[in-house]
Amino acid sequence: MYVCLCKGVSDHKLRATVEDGARSWREVQGETGCATQCGKCAPVAKAITRDAIRSE
Ligand code: FES
Repeated sequence: MYVCLCKGVSDHKLRATVEDGARSWREVQGETGCATQCGKCAPVAKAITRDAIRSE
């Protein structure tokens, strides 16, 4: 599902970015552009990213 509508970033994309080596929210944000526009998706996107990093 899309987490970030502004930038068209899905939960899958967030997890895939962590799998590809991103190790922080800042890195995931930099790679995907997630939460760089309206910012409404930030809390959910951060939670998904945190979970993904924890389970790496
Ligand atoms: Fe992600 Fe707007 S929904 S920046």
